[in-house]
Amino acid sequence: MPKNKTPQIASAKQPAWAIVAMVGLMLIGPFLHIQYIHVAHHWRLAPAGVRGEQAMVVSAHFLASEIGRDVLRDGGNAFDAAVAVNFALSVVYQQAGNIGGGGFMVYRLADGARGALDFRERAPLKASRDMYLDAQGEVIKGLSLKGHFAVGVPGSVAGMAALHERFGSKPWDGLVRPSIHLAQNGFALTPKAARMFNRYQKDFREVNRFAPAVVHPDGAWKAGDKITFPDLARTLNRIAAQGRAGFYQGETAHLIADEMLAGGGLLSLEDLAAYRAVWRQPIEVAYRGHKIISMPPPSSGGVALAQLLQGAEAHDIAAMGHNSAAHIHLMTELERRVYADRATHMGDTDFVSVDIQGLTDKAYIAARNNDISLHVKTPSEQVKPGFVQAIESVETTHFSIVDPQGNAVAITTTLNGNFGAKLVVQGGGFFLNNEMDDFSIKPGHANQFGLVGDDKNAIAPGKRMLSSMTPTIVEKDGALKIVLGTPGGATIITSVFQTLLNLIDFGMTAQQAVDARKSHSQWQPDFVMLEKGTMSVANMRGLLARQHKLYPWPHFKYALGRVEAIVVQEGGTLEGAADASRGEDDRAVGY
Ligand code: DON
Repeated sequence: MPKNKTPQIASAKQPAWAIVAMVGLMLIGPFLHIQYIHVAHHWRLAPAGVRGEQAMVVSAHFLASEIGRDVLRDGGNAFDAAVAVNFALSVVYQQAGNIGGGGFMVYRLADGARGALDFRERAPLKASRDMYLDAQGEVIKGLSLKGHFAVGVPGSVAGMAALHERFGSKPWDGLVRPSIHLAQNGFALTPKAARMFNRYQKDFREVNRFAPAVVHPDGAWKAGDKITFPDLARTLNRIAAQGRAGFYQGETAHLIADEMLAGGGLLSLEDLAAYRAVWRQPIEVAYRGHKIISMPPPSSGGVALAQLLQGAEAHDIAAMGHNSAAHIHLMTELERRVYADRATHMGDTDFVSVDIQGLTDKAYIAARNNDISLHVKTPSEQVKPGFVQAIESVETTHFSIVDPQGNAVAITTTLNGNFGAKLVVQGGGFFLNNEMDDFSIKPGHANQFGLVGDDKNAIAPGKRMLSSMTPTIVEKDGALKIVLGTPGGATIITSVFQTLLNLIDFGMTAQQAVDARKSHSQWQPDFVMLEKGTMSVANMRGLLARQHKLYPWPHFKYALGRVEAIVVQEGGTLEGAADASRGEDDRAVGY
């Protein structure tokens, strides 16, 4: 399992080997201590991030970062660059970069104005609350994850069109052109891209009624192989020529609708025509002299981050020591309460009421965290969702951009799982999302990230599924300071949280904050995940003594987060930090 695989923890249990390893390591721990200390502090060895005096693009693929940089050099602004990067990722980073998925943007203009754009997928109009349950009311395994029935109405092209219409300065077609070129003329696969394509060959063959371009004709992809996507190039050409209509109407829309009809999917021409991206008011919260600006519902990211940071602010985190038992214990206790609230209180605000003010209220959070002991875990049966006022009426990728004028864009976008539903639109050449799994398909049923939910996130026609995506911008003294975000499903929120603590409380550089190993806890399942090298053995003992279960201990095999960040240093130089330590092809490109 490669290190950047999305955590799939729904059915995670402590395996026997982990328990044996746990006991074994407790015995021989002291002898390994020095080695673990060394690994745990490896972030100190992180190289400095990329410096830029004027502009910076940080994304999951160097080709996309370079395309964004070229747009900026050519006089385009951060929004122009975002459009170009987004389409480039849909070609060179197809496991998450997309036109068949959706995402969120948080922006801050050079003059301080800010906002958020929601281009999240919606449930098709023919969707219904129990569509993934059998006659006995049980979840039909895999139905919300793979194939036609898992697909939500894509939002990405509408999102790009909306942000370009409002803020773009360069002609639209020129921003799509570099991606058409890549799809048409091809590009060399990196070792990682080849591995990713190879890992899903069986799924691609199983789900699709034809052989899409990612299916290797007779073997396996190798690093350096050149790959072209002629159908995708034609789709991008229609988008370049017609804007959003090139996707939601005409030939592309018919190709999607035909694909759905052929495979029993629900998405229709009507769904596509009706889709709109929505401008939203960002969540804003103060943290130790900084202003944090993040994504509101239908993402839970901004609300959860605001809750976590306000909980953290009550403590002297820096004095605890980075990734000490005390530090991870406190974060875990905060996280358990926040994820309990997420499961119960959050959903698409266009459909259900969410008491955002109540959930992010300082007094509410203080009261909620009142029973946290710094010495022992609160028993699980005592961690419940908080009570907030009930109002009438409920492989992802991130990129960060700062332009020479000082405009900043944070976009997190996804197909949900790697390559989404694994389904390519025949003739269209692009993957469709499996975002429907982010709904609570049955109350209390864990989704692929182990997240549970209830009524507020139940499926309804046209409703957006709750997300954890947390594109975030930070101001200090009224000026731009940090732009960041990450993939990682449920761990997105906690990775952004820890990166902010690393920067603000521990004074790390951008690259150190991104590279530092991370932990994660989400209330249910009831354990603390630790990336390999997060903690020394002594500190792990400290967590065990506080009665936490550690999973899988000591080697959590998944990466936690893959933050792509930009930090404005004193004096105005930009530090771009891509997480190549977890992602390989990720790159910060600045000038
Ligand atoms: O919206 C969400 O929260 C999820 N669909 C994100 C999926 C994700 O981050 C997968 N990548 N690691």
